[in-house]
Amino acid sequence: EKGGYDYFMLKEIAEQPKAVADTLLGRIDLAGNLCLDEVRIPASVLREVSKVVIVACGTAYHAGMIAKYAIEHWTRIPCETELASEFRYRDPILDQRTLVIAISQSGETMDTLMALRHAREQGAKVLAICNTNGSTIPRESDAVLYTHAGPEVAVASTKAFLTQLVACYLVALYLGQVRGTKWGDEILSVIRELSEIATQVDQVLETMEPVRELARTLADKNTVLFLGRHVGYPVALEGALKLKELAYMHAEGFAAGELKHGPIALIEQDVPVVVVVPSPRGRSVLHDKIVSNIQEIRARGARTIVIAERGDEAVGPYADHLIEIPATPTLLQPLVATVPLQVFACELATARGNEVDQPRNLAKSVTVE
Ligand code: M6R
Repeated sequence: EKGGYDYFMLKEIAEQPKAVADTLLGRIDLAGNLCLDEVRIPASVLREVSKVVIVACGTAYHAGMIAKYAIEHWTRIPCETELASEFRYRDPILDQRTLVIAISQSGETMDTLMALRHAREQGAKVLAICNTNGSTIPRESDAVLYTHAGPEVAVASTKAFLTQLVACYLVALYLGQVRGTKWGDEILSVIRELSEIATQVDQVLETMEPVRELARTLADKNTVLFLGRHVGYPVALEGALKLKELAYMHAEGFAAGELKHGPIALIEQDVPVVVVVPSPRGRSVLHDKIVSNIQEIRARGARTIVIAERGDEAVGPYADHLIEIPATPTLLQPLVATVPLQVFACELATARGNEVDQPRNLAKSVTVE
């Protein structure tokens, strides 16, 4: 049932192009418009939404962090993303015009379920993004947008994460579409790019051998740091989470702009630092800033592992290891930038002799608070 792979995780990483394509299937029409009639919240209600709040845990929370950038940019609706386990304990401000999005692969995560129950009690509408048909979270929500990743067996979430991102982009673009924001042209071009993204994920998977080789050389390290900005920041957090849960290593993700506010003190000779670089096109200010971050940490002895768009010439001189990814619009970059980090963590765990599919102390779905 592992389809010839040593681990479910490897199989599930390889299934990502299909999972992404399946999640898009039937949701974009030939004219490039979104058809999300299955989200049974009427357009008239969506037009009145004044705030979006996303609740989720672990990897799903990272998808929610990325969704915040997309929702605010394409819809101009204020959006916050919160760890489900923190949400209801701080007396959050919610009303009938709040749209709460609960993201969960299993649909059974107790923290997320309790957060959505709390939101509904306050009168908010809840949309679930879920991978498991008929599970508790979608049953208790006002509407559901299913991800079509297929069953995910490995404890470490991979294909579910990519499909959660796709679902979040669809919701963000749909909200933009029904509300008619001034980003109409950009929304249409992103929808086009999104419909081709599965091919790009596939291209990334075909170039992973150097990443595996690199991971094997780092098996005796104690710490790996991850840096990113904008949507690259949640990608950095996700890379660190994968490494923690699989390789049992100290791994931390930082917003690159925070380096000088503390974390740069951690940089010492030979510490591996993975840096997720935004596209040099578009938001190039961010790109230039992160290139100078790479220079700063390298000058202090860090071993830099740089994930950057193919053809990005500015990063080459400062990358001890360069991992190239295809060009995508900035907001979609997490779909391609996360894949090397999954492969990296899986290979490092294997090199350290760890059980990849069943990491110690963890369960696939966390049904206790
Ligand atoms: O089933 P859920 O998406 O609600 O699960 C949330 C987290 O428990 C889950 O993403 C966890 O962080 C994964 N093991 C990460 O790989």
